[in-house]
Amino acid sequence: MKRGLLSCWLRNAMESRYPRDTSVVANRERHHIARIEAFITHRASNPPMTMERSFRVTLETPDGLRSFDCGEDEHIWDAAASHQITLPATCHQGRCLTCAGRLLAGSVDHDDADAYFAQDEEEDYILLCRAMPRSDLHVRTHQEWEMREHRIASGLPAPYA
Ligand code: FES
Repeated sequence: MKRGLLSCWLRNAMESRYPRDTSVVANRERHHIARIEAFITHRASNPPMTMERSFRVTLETPDGLRSFDCGEDEHIWDAAASHQITLPATCHQGRCLTCAGRLLAGSVDHDDADAYFAQDEEEDYILLCRAMPRSDLHVRTHQEWEMREHRIASGLPAPYA
């Protein structure tokens, strides 16, 4: 039921129950209805916060497998760091390739990356500093030089190479 309709229904119910009644009981019920209306108005302009989804990320690092949860709006590199997993990085902007990984399973969003190309995605290279999970993930880390070779072979930018 929409907010206006609910308020109207409450007022009509009140007035039909206590027409022109100013007794303590009627006034208390009017006060109660006013509080419900205030709550409905507040809720309409302040919808409840939605819970951020998170996904399970498993990294194949040179030190072995590491797993942690990563929010859908969180960069994987940052989530790893918050779990005491140190990964390589230089620019943190999705440009230099230092943080490159290889996606073995799952999907990510690279909207935040400065320079990420369709050819990178086709070859399953990801930039962990700017990638955000869109499913549970399995990623091989420390793929900087492999991604540089891929970029050079594809005629794409490979900064610092
Ligand atoms: S740290 Fe430079 S691309 Fe990720």
